[in-house]
Amino acid sequence: MIRAVARRALGNGHSVAGVRNGWQGLMEGDVVDLDRDAVSGIINRGGTILGTSRMDPYVHGEGRSTVQPTLDSASLDGLVVIGGDGSLRSAARLHTEGVPVVGVPKTIDNDIGLTDVTFGFHTAVQIATEAIDRLTTTAEAHHRVILVEVMGRTAGWIAAYAGIAGGADVILVPEFPYSIESVCDMLRERHERRDYSIVVVAEGIDPPTTPARIQRDSFGFARLGGVSYDLAPLIEEQTGIETRVVVLGHMQRGGTPTAYDRVLATRLGTAAVDRIAAGESGTMVALRNDEIISVSLADACATPRRLTPDVFDVASTFFG
Ligand code: F6P
Repeated sequence: MIRAVARRALGNGHSVAGVRNGWQGLMEGDVVDLDRDAVSGIINRGGTILGTSRMDPYVHGEGRSTVQPTLDSASLDGLVVIGGDGSLRSAARLHTEGVPVVGVPKTIDNDIGLTDVTFGFHTAVQIATEAIDRLTTTAEAHHRVILVEVMGRTAGWIAAYAGIAGGADVILVPEFPYSIESVCDMLRERHERRDYSIVVVAEGIDPPTTPARIQRDSFGFARLGGVSYDLAPLIEEQTGIETRVVVLGHMQRGGTPTAYDRVLATRLGTAAVDRIAAGESGTMVALRNDEIISVSLADACATPRRLTPDVFDVASTFFG
């Protein structure tokens, strides 16, 4: 993505500044020159060469006036904001304050509205599917239930896609309620035929019991991950089947992006530069029916993309 933005803009005769650590860099003037060399050889790298943070000019500053000194000193004519719902929401607000901004939907959770998919999602699904394949082997050998917990704060896209691709026997997602009883019924029934099961759990499901305490990072953001440790003993107790837990965690956000994500990021990044050059602002580049289009940033943020009943219905065909 960064390479795509830089190469397109440089190719059109502009100079490009990379803002380090997201909004924090814009608030603190931490900006680096992105010339051709700086973005060379990075297409196969995940993460971001610029770093990221949870700082936000509207939460930890005064909005435009906090970032204006950097916009001026770095002579920035427009911003390409690459991020998830939080970053894009602040991008939409900066636009209303007169800063030219085009957003790009980037999150493994796939939970941004008005785009068919966000980049990063495909890679996370691939990693989770490979993990499920490996865990299926050992679940089968040891006749166990394995709970594979994947990311997905409010959306069960990763769980559903990786679960379908990996042939999961039960998939639990935030959007659709579950009960321990029905999960145990499905597992008991299944174990009469096959004596192992894979249950894919999205980290954001309602916990089966009230958590002792919610952990938060230094920005107050709830740290998820680990709900399966509360589920497993209940399943083991009610079914009598040995039940283990694997939390994939940040493994899903690292390493080499899939070819699909590399191409999608490249298409979105080049389009974002073109939109800014055309004088557009307050928009987000999005994928719709395999075309890159522009949608309203504010509308995209107002309509988070939750797992759809049709996809969950497909997934549940294979439960039990
Ligand atoms: O928003 C994307 C996401 O991957 C969520 O699914 C997850 O809960 C969160 O990031 C984890 O954030 P952190 O790396 O700060 O723990």
